[in-house]
Amino acid sequence: MSEGVSKERGVGLGTEELAKAGLKFELDSISEGAVATVTLNRPERRNAMTGSTWRGLARIGQSLPESVRVVIVRGEGPSFSAGIDLRTFTPEGVPGEPPIMRTDGTDAELDAGIKALQAGYLWLRRPGIVSVAAVQGHAVGAGFQLALACDIRILADDAQLCMKEPALGLVPDLTGSKPLVDIVGVNRALELCLTARSIGAEEAYRLLLAELVVPAASLDGTVADLVAALLAVDRGAATATKALLQQARENTLEQQAAAERAAQIGRLRALAAAARATAAG
Ligand code: ACO
Repeated sequence: MSEGVSKERGVGLGTEELAKAGLKFELDSISEGAVATVTLNRPERRNAMTGSTWRGLARIGQSLPESVRVVIVRGEGPSFSAGIDLRTFTPEGVPGEPPIMRTDGTDAELDAGIKALQAGYLWLRRPGIVSVAAVQGHAVGAGFQLALACDIRILADDAQLCMKEPALGLVPDLTGSKPLVDIVGVNRALELCLTARSIGAEEAYRLLLAELVVPAASLDGTVADLVAALLAVDRGAATATKALLQQARENTLEQQAAAERAAQIGRLRALAAAARATAAG
């Protein structure tokens, strides 16, 4: 990313805060701000994440400019993300980083603390945007969950996905358990989580955890082509279609048929209004 990109414009964090969170935010000015890129930017630590990273992601989600239609989530360096910064679990903690949360708090305080971190992932499902994870190298634990939070995953052929949390005595709590089960089913999800084994790109593709697998050198180009295709679709139709598809699994056939009708009525009205506006000059 260089030409046509304005850095950190329109997001609720300054350069220093973003750097402290291990994040970079860029808005593509060529597309008039329709494409935002969120980069995990701590390559020397394989983009290990801290509480600041997750709170930073949440702030980006809260202040995402209206212009944005596609969000690319990527990692700098050889890995997408090595997950939580393991120094979190040492008595010294991560230098310069407050503890993620006080484990001696009440259940309600811990619940609120985890909820605040989950907010960094949840916004990527918003119907008004399409989120695309570009994954090379390792995506471990919280990193795998971040990729799972995105609508579409493009994997480089060297990608390795691993749900490591249970091996550390934890559960996946950054909103990854639902998409994992939705995609691979309970049994396979259980096998992946409880063995904490790594899944290579080809297996990920077979399990439908990746929409595309490409040579590592083609990752950025493939993502750019995908983004161009996504932007070519009418914005209102894209939003309405994502909302429709998101509810399909939970709806009965009758409910989904009704949702299709309601969404289509909205589209027909919008198209008619646009045609009237064009005719009126
Ligand atoms: N936390 C803190 N530092 C990390 C982490 C991490 N999660 N992962 C890597 N690093 C650091 C390493 O300590 C090393 O630092 P150093 O150069 O000062 O020695 C540097 O990043 C490079 O790491 P390497 O292991 O040398 O990189 P490599 O490319 O060979 O391996 C891999 C990458 C596979 C990701 C490996 O680093 C790894 O297994 N990391 C730990 C993954 C993990 O268990 N994460 C927790 C998941 S659970 C959760 O997220 C909730």
